[in-house]
Amino acid sequence: MGVKTRLLEPLEAAIAPLLAARSSRTHPPRLLDLLCGTGVVGARLAPRASVWATDAQAYACVLARARLQPAAGLESALERCLQRAERAREALFERYGAVLEAERRWFERAEEPGSIDAYCRWAEQEASGHDPARACAGCRPDTFPPRLVTAYYRNVYFGVRQAIELDALRWAIEAESEPAARNALLAALLFAASRATSATAHFAQPRALSRRSERERLVQRRQIDVRARFVERLQQLEREQAAQRARGGFRHPHRVERREVVSWTRTAVREPVDVVYADPPYTADNYSRFYHVLETLVHYDYPPLATRAGRLTRGRYPALERRLRSPFSSPATVEAAFAAVCGFAARLGAALVWSYARPNGLLIRRVYDGQLAPFERLLGRFYREVEITEIPLAHSGAGSRALRTHELIAVCREPRSRPLPVSRKTSEPRARTQPAATEIANS
Ligand SMILES: C[S@@+](CC[C@H](N)C(=O)[O-])C[C@H]1O[C@@H](n2cnc3c(N)ncnc32)[C@H](O)[C@@H]1O
Repeated sequence: MGVKTRLLEPLEAAIAPLLAARSSRTHPPRLLDLLCGTGVVGARLAPRASVWATDAQAYACVLARARLQPAAGLESALERCLQRAERAREALFERYGAVLEAERRWFERAEEPGSIDAYCRWAEQEASGHDPARACAGCRPDTFPPRLVTAYYRNVYFGVRQAIELDALRWAIEAESEPAARNALLAALLFAASRATSATAHFAQPRALSRRSERERLVQRRQIDVRARFVERLQQLEREQAAQRARGGFRHPHRVERREVVSWTRTAVREPVDVVYADPPYTADNYSRFYHVLETLVHYDYPPLATRAGRLTRGRYPALERRLRSPFSSPATVEAAFAAVCGFAARLGAALVWSYARPNGLLIRRVYDGQLAPFERLLGRFYREVEITEIPLAHSGAGSRALRTHELIAVCREPRSRPLPVSRKTSEPRARTQPAATEIANS
């Protein structure tokens, strides 16, 4: 969700001149990609600047690191990992032999009439009939055989074999001693899990099986080969990194850190930063709900699961205290979160670039009644120059919904030494809104 791949060109066009115009030459140009997600924006600018990428979610940091901190020797790291995984796989085959064999027989008969429906009933019953907490009592990240995915998510988000494969590979990855290679392997595993999930939107909840097409889709997805996807992705990363090395590698060092942005903005950061790029969640949908399985796969610490009326939730979400609830995703806190980032960037003396959306950005839709002017005023309290470009976003195949939403790129220059007071009268900035020529298809 929210990945900016389709907006890389306009974002680069907005950020690159700010990096080039930096005032001090005593350090390499530095971009702080504050809510970095997959890290694609930072990676696009990485040849021009030293990128510092941060995000509150650990899985996002793994993905960003794989882009920004290339590893050498990935092929041999992969070989070592696959060998180590063998041992865990065998132990898991032994432990879960009966349910694995049952699944194998279902998939073998998938073409027979009625078989898909019968498999779905079996899988649902199997999932609700076992207790993850009991299966994992006393488990720690290094417990052998590793079983988190198989115990928590088999027949929920993954098939039995898929879950075993994810556990075996995750265990093998942890033993990799070279940190950048370990991170690349983990990034490839996150990719494989995302490809294999049988849920609809990422990991928001298991697929509802009321329609036949959903049931067919489930059976197809449960047969995706996790190990093959993992190997493919790792090899692709290896190719991308080799190409980067062939171009001479990155000129500047990059850094990735896990940080919750609003609490971080209250602390003093002394390092020079020229441009802050902030791409917050647009809506009230919390990313942690969509990606909780990836986050758990990274921590691999057998988190307590949430319950409702004494029963596990259908989505097997971690207990609430383990989930990030973003201040950008609540109408009560979103404006303060924007102000905190503006104040932080201004105090750093950096230019600030926001990605946001109209009308569906929560701040604009729910707090500013769909109006852009109060948003411009908020940015103008912290910056003397605010320029907002609106890019119409066409939803492909969405008929009349086309062009209803706009991506915003807000460029803020000339930080004020002190923010203007909140008063609506005095805080009018010199803002210009440019309609952009580009129209982007939302695939
Ligand atoms: C729209 S996504 C960023 C997408 C990214 N630019 C990309 O292209 O992949 C928003 C990101 O903000 C992160 N996030 C949300 N609230 C946060 C907070 N309070 N502190 C740090 N990160 C946060 C989410 O984990 C998510 O990765």
